[in-house]
Amino acid sequence: MESSLFEKTLKEKTKGIEEILAQYLPEEKGYQKTVLQAMNYSVQAGGKRLRPMLMQEVYRLFGGQSDEICPFMAALEMIHTYSLVHDDLPAMDNDEYRRGRKTTHIVYGEAMAILAGDGLLNYAFETAVKAFETAETEYMPRVARALGILGRKAGIYGMIGGQTADIEAEDSSSAISGEQLLFIHEHKTAALIQAAMMIGAVLAGASDDDVARMEKCAYNVGIAFQIQDDILDVIGDSQQLGKPVGSDAANEKQTYVTIYGLEKSGADVAALSEEAVSILRMTRSQAGVNPEAADFLEQLITELIHRNK
Ligand code: IPE
Ligand code: IPE
Ligand code: MG
Ligand code: MG
Ligand code: MG
Repeated sequence: MESSLFEKTLKEKTKGIEEILAQYLPEEKGYQKTVLQAMNYSVQAGGKRLRPMLMQEVYRLFGGQSDEICPFMAALEMIHTYSLVHDDLPAMDNDEYRRGRKTTHIVYGEAMAILAGDGLLNYAFETAVKAFETAETEYMPRVARALGILGRKAGIYGMIGGQTADIEAEDSSSAISGEQLLFIHEHKTAALIQAAMMIGAVLAGASDDDVARMEKCAYNVGIAFQIQDDILDVIGDSQQLGKPVGSDAANEKQTYVTIYGLEKSGADVAALSEEAVSILRMTRSQAGVNPEAADFLEQLITELIHRNK
C-alpha cells in the first residue's frame, strides 16, 4: 500500500477503535464520579491505540468477523492506559505530560491517579467478560482462554513483572546486563503486545501453532517498540511524542541506548522488526489467512521502525 493511503487507512482504523472504546467507558456519575472522570481523562487523551489495533488485525488475519473482539480491545487499552497512569506517578517515572496532556496525577492528584489506575485495571476485566454475553456457546472456551492470556501478560509474569525489574534496575548502582534489560523490555512492553496478538488469534480460532507464532512475532515487535521508545526519549520531540523527552536520563535509567548506543539501538529495531515481518510472512502463506490483513500488519510493523511518536 502506498504510504499516503496507508496513513489514511491507519487514521480510519484508529477512529474506529476510538468509537469502540467510547462504548465501553464508564458513565461519570455517582459519589465515585471523580475516579470515573480520571479514568476517562486518561483513556480519552488518545494515544496510538497500537494494542487494540494489533488485536483487531490479527483477529481479521485468522478470519475473525464477530464483535466479540470489541470488549477485549477496550479491555487491553484500559490496562495499557492504567500502566501509563501508574508509570507516570512521582514514585515511578515522575512525568508531567502524557498523550499531549498533563498526567492524571497532576490534574486529579496522586491518590485519585492511583485509584484511576486500579479502576482501569479492574474495569478492564469487567469489560472483557462482556464477551461472554455475545459469544456463541461453542466459542465460550475461546473467550475463557483469552481472559487467561490477558491476566497473565498484564500481571506479575508480564507487564507488572517488567515494571518491577525496571524500577529496581534504576535504584541499582551497578550496570545491568543485556539479559536483565531484555527481561525488562520483554515484560514491561512486549507482554501487552503479545496479549494483543495472541488474543486476536485465539478469538478467531487460530491453531495453537499460530498462537505461538503470534507470541513470537509480538515479542519482536514489543522489544523493537521499547528500544525505539528509549531512542525517542533521547532524540525525539516532546511536542510530537506528547510526553517529555529526557525522562530516562532524569531518572538515571539504564536503557537500550545507554547500554548499546544510538546506532546499535536503531539497527536492532530494524532487525527485530524484520524478524517479526518474516514470521508474519510464514503465516500469510497458509490457507484461510486473510492476505489483506497480513499486508496491513506487515506495513504497520515496518512503519513502527521509523516512528517519531
Ligand atoms: C508507551 O506506549 C509505553 C511503552 C510501552 C513504551 P505507547 O507508545 O503505545 O503509548 P500511547 O498508547 O501511544 O500513548
Ligand atoms: C513503560 O516504559 C512501560 C509501561 C509498562 C508503562 P517507559 O517508562 O519507558 O514508558 P514511557 O516512556 O513513560 O511511555
Ligand atoms: Mg517507566
Ligand atoms: Mg515512563
Ligand atoms: Mg520511555
